[in-house]
Amino acid sequence: MTQACVTAPFGRRSAPVRSIERSGPYTFLRALDAAGPKPRAGQFYMLQTARGWGGGDDGRPYLPRALSFARVEQVNGGLELTYFLESVGPGTARLAACATGEELLIAGPFGNGFDLDRTRPPVLVAGGVGLAPIVALDDKIRKTDGARSTVLVGMRDGERAAAITKFGVECGIATEDGSAGHAGYVTALLERELEDGHDSTVYACGPPAMLEAVRALCSEREVPCQLALESGMACGYGACYGCVVPTVDGYARLCVDGPVLPGDKLETAIVKGAGH
Ligand SMILES: Cc1cc2nc3c(=O)[nH]c(=O)nc-3n(C[C@H](O)[C@H](O)[C@H](O)COP(=O)(O)OP(=O)(O)OC[C@H]3O[C@@H](n4cnc5c(N)ncnc54)[C@H](O)[C@@H]3O)c2cc1C
Ligand code: FES
Repeated sequence: MTQACVTAPFGRRSAPVRSIERSGPYTFLRALDAAGPKPRAGQFYMLQTARGWGGGDDGRPYLPRALSFARVEQVNGGLELTYFLESVGPGTARLAACATGEELLIAGPFGNGFDLDRTRPPVLVAGGVGLAPIVALDDKIRKTDGARSTVLVGMRDGERAAAITKFGVECGIATEDGSAGHAGYVTALLERELEDGHDSTVYACGPPAMLEAVRALCSEREVPCQLALESGMACGYGACYGCVVPTVDGYARLCVDGPVLPGDKLETAIVKGAGH
């Protein structure tokens, strides 16, 4: 049965940065959300800084940027949200350069999160910054539900793999340069996990090529999977149609119909213009 997702309050709200920590190319950004509802793993927020969000004094402001939350904790004054990001362009570079105490403007939580099937053992697969919603789902399964999960994480190199330790996630690791865990892609670990006719459900987030390999592996073995996809997002609430992706049922707006889609709704998880 599909679980209901929480709905975002109207408009943007202020969220002060509580801490910022860097690990190799990654940034852990923690912010206090005093007014938002508790999000579900796989949901996302649109973020921007309150000041200095654009191309200089005369420049046009950037659009807010979509980020999944990785961790949510109830603290004095609201929810502390942890975001996990890699600086790949001006928006993420500005967010990664935030100082403690600086004001963010956030909207969300948006979209559909993962729809946890408690009747089948969960196998969670992450690649790169796709680790964010996978940490959130693992927290939900282990800490909130007290259940077990298998987590498999792929990173490009050992410097990136160090970020996994900071989250304290118990997992199988694969690195492309072989500096930590299995040398190669995380999908090799998944293939091993799915040997001998597995009864699990797979939940995955990562670059399009990884998601497509996960989708194909699961489809061949008739294992259900849920994939958290990415596409460029301008609004986050269904108005601009900038985030549409093709599905077997026609186009879907990832911000409202996703970002998590069942694997069997996709002919391919490789979406033109998405992923980096
Ligand atoms: C639902 C959702 C959740 C996301 N969660 C995270 C997260 O937890 N951590 C994180 O680091 N990033 C996440 N992203 C990706 C993040 O939104 C983009 O990296 C960011 O918008 C890039 O902005 P920029 O100004 O830094 O770079 P740009 O100059 O806008 O882009 C730099 C490069 O990234 C590509 N790119 C831009 N936006 C996207 C996008 N939305 N999807 C794929 N490729 C893109 C561009 O084609 C370009 O090659 C998420 C995206 C979505 C849609
Ligand atoms: S981001 Fe505007 S419709 Fe999805």
